[in-house]
Amino acid sequence: MTSQTDPAITIDLPLTREDPDLLKREITRGLLANPKTLPSKLFYDERGSTLFEQICELPEYYQTRTEHQLLTRWADEIVSISEAEELVELGSGAATKTRVLLDAMANVNQLHYFVPFDVDETIVRRVSEELVREYPGLHIHGVVGDFLVHLEHIPEGGKRLVVILGGTIGNLPALAAHEFLSSVNSEMAPGDYFLLGVQLITDRNRLEAAYNDQQGITAKFNKNIIRVLHNQFGSQSDSESFDHVARYNEADHRIEMWLCSREDQTLGIQDLDLTVHLKQGEEIRTEISTKYDRPLAEELLASSGFALVKWYSDPDSLIGLALAKKP
Ligand code: SAH
Ligand code: AVI
Repeated sequence: MTSQTDPAITIDLPLTREDPDLLKREITRGLLANPKTLPSKLFYDERGSTLFEQICELPEYYQTRTEHQLLTRWADEIVSISEAEELVELGSGAATKTRVLLDAMANVNQLHYFVPFDVDETIVRRVSEELVREYPGLHIHGVVGDFLVHLEHIPEGGKRLVVILGGTIGNLPALAAHEFLSSVNSEMAPGDYFLLGVQLITDRNRLEAAYNDQQGITAKFNKNIIRVLHNQFGSQSDSESFDHVARYNEADHRIEMWLCSREDQTLGIQDLDLTVHLKQGEEIRTEISTKYDRPLAEELLASSGFALVKWYSDPDSLIGLALAKKP
């Protein structure tokens, strides 16, 4: 099933069409595990995506502006090396930094096709409508899907540049990241390019500040997962019965976000036929955000079938952008 708004826009909706119970199974598995976890893709309904956009503007969240600066510096070279005519963005969100790449493609008349791929339907639709207005002649094929499941919905187009920005790859454990990038590689043609943005390992204080901002936006984002459980799965719990916790796990070089129960409580989730008991102080892990270094990123790319072409980083080594090719 596809749905059409503007003739330049097609939206494909595999998320709701294929296996709608997948998320229910993932939630159940996570809440029955020890420690309890919830899938981080659950943050991103319309409110969660908006909160993430606000996070990107926070003074403590250095990641977005650093990656933006890197893209601004190197977009022309990336477009020239890749010769791409189709840009595919996995976990596209608001696609704000993506405009830098789209501009560089448009400047050399290479911009024909954009594929925003995200779990949040509202943001795929919003971005598609914005971009057809901003780039006359651009065709957009949005995919509302899970990039771990629905990659085959990426349409065939011209020479492709596939991008994953923002450090989204870090939200997956190492094995899942490897399997994901291997699947991305399988969907690409030899000679296509891949651009991966990773957040680099840096000092604990800087990292913990980025996930414990003064304005409390990250706390709202974290607690939004409880509101999504309520709105989409009929759970009874109140998001304010949890505290936001974010700490750096040095051994696994990752920030972990948790929700800590303020009281003994029962989390009844109607649509899942699931009742979970939480003790006061018990935590549910909602996100991991793994930080890489260059060797780790190169290893991930190579093991997933990519050849590194260029490595870009900022003077403080906070963000890495790896341009790689499918040989
Ligand atoms: N690329 C943007 C947004 C990053 S936020 C940036 O760099 O700022 C991560 C995005 O990935 C969100 O929009 C979220 O909805 C999406 N996402 C998370 N897990 C996903 C999954 N499994 N499949 C598809 N999209 C996912
Ligand atoms: C989308 N992702 C890379 C962000 C991160 O930094 O891991 C999500 C986020 N969580 C809290 N703040 C931002």
